[in-house]
Amino acid sequence: MTMTNGYEQSDREEKLAILNLPSLEEKAKEIIPTGGFGYITEGSEYEWTLKENTKAFDHVQIIPRVLTSVENPSTETQLLDINLSMPIIAAPVAAQGLAHARGELATAQGMAKAGTIMSQSTYGNATIEEIAKEGNGAPQFFQLYMSKDWEINKTWLDEAVNSGVKAIVMTVDSMLGGYREADIINNFQFPIPMGNLEKLSAGDSKGKGIAEIYAAAAQVILPSDVKKVAEYTGLPVFVKGIQSPEDAEIAIEAGAAGIWVSNHGGRQLNGGPASFDVLKAISDKVNKRVPIVFDSGVRRGSHVFKALANGADIVAIGRPILYGLALGGAQGAQSVVEHLNHELKIVMQLAGTQTVEDIKKAKLIRQNPINDSLSEN
Ligand code: LAC
Repeated sequence: MTMTNGYEQSDREEKLAILNLPSLEEKAKEIIPTGGFGYITEGSEYEWTLKENTKAFDHVQIIPRVLTSVENPSTETQLLDINLSMPIIAAPVAAQGLAHARGELATAQGMAKAGTIMSQSTYGNATIEEIAKEGNGAPQFFQLYMSKDWEINKTWLDEAVNSGVKAIVMTVDSMLGGYREADIINNFQFPIPMGNLEKLSAGDSKGKGIAEIYAAAAQVILPSDVKKVAEYTGLPVFVKGIQSPEDAEIAIEAGAAGIWVSNHGGRQLNGGPASFDVLKAISDKVNKRVPIVFDSGVRRGSHVFKALANGADIVAIGRPILYGLALGGAQGAQSVVEHLNHELKIVMQLAGTQTVEDIKKAKLIRQNPINDSLSEN
């Protein structure tokens, strides 16, 4: 353990034998201090949306396909011409030092080894440049929480561009935080400074709660901001936090190069639909004009499959990577995405899909009425 400002950080570094992603939470709880664990795990209000996010994958089913030539399915794929070993990337998660002493640096290393993308958060404990260095040339995205001050945004975006990130992910669903009770109960304040904020004196992050951090950021984000960030950086911009076809259309019209379907892991608007339940309508509207990244609730290989079959190009994983970090550092984070990909390969073979493109063509059926749906095929 490493003690930082009175907070005990894990410094484990080992490969993990993982049974499944949900089982990691309980194990990580034994290592991550209560305040940090509560912050990572919580959703908003009574966490209906958080729980529904994972349950919703059971609203549709995958038809097993047999007598096919599928053998050793391949999970290799591409996003914005970036080659990936799997259709699974790391979502931008703040303050990863809560889970491990090396925080984002370890995640960057783990994702690079796994052959996939690390998405950095504006509210990381390490800086953009530090995290990029650790990735050693592996593809990374930078997630922007817009500051009220455009000069600060420019500094972050310059650093992101100079560090070689491949895309900007603009989070647009968090002008304020959802009502998160674990933080209130634990009186949680970030114990470790956030590198990008401290560097610019954009605000002290240590000793503050997420509500104060959000309050210091831009309180309104408009389509014109999407355009501005895209033009300033010359990089593809994903708009993250889309939950309706209408907003997907607005984002595309504003110049988004990608749509990121997410309800922030159920941490923002409780009572909103499960992210998976809105994916199909959004992907129908987007109609392949831009790629779609999907997150919120993905825990199983079958969930990844269903998200891709319903129009996502890639899925992103948040909390389980943090649990992997706490339990095994860079190798732990790597083990998490590799395990999920292992489950995916099994589903692919059983569903008769050789490639990620085949998954995208697979047809899902609705729970009821099974017979009607089957006879349509
Ligand atoms: C959160 C932010 C920081 O959900 O993404 O806490």
